[in-house]
Amino acid sequence: MSAATQTAHVICADADVAEGERKLAFVGGRSVVVFRIEGQLHAIENSCPHNGASLASGCLQGRVLSCPAHGLRFDLGTGRSLTGGQLCVKLLPTRVIDGQISLATA
Ligand code: FES
Repeated sequence: MSAATQTAHVICADADVAEGERKLAFVGGRSVVVFRIEGQLHAIENSCPHNGASLASGCLQGRVLSCPAHGLRFDLGTGRSLTGGQLCVKLLPTRVIDGQISLATA
């Protein structure tokens, strides 16, 4: 699929996500969380791949997010679990256009 056929969905204003902070939003029919870590945006689907818990309130250490339900830890750079298995959080591409963080979805 080309970028031209994708639809941009605004999550929030870029200024709404300060360094080390996060923003929960409902975009394009899905719940997403966007984090700013060391200046980089990381957006994920707000659903733990283990059992579907919300990840929005998970503890963040560096770019490692712990699920509040059972404690599985995920690297927000790769999406992969650091605590074993093949589980991965779904990473969602973002871009900043005119001061707005947008999610590119199919
Ligand atoms: S639902 Fe996230 S670790 Fe179990």
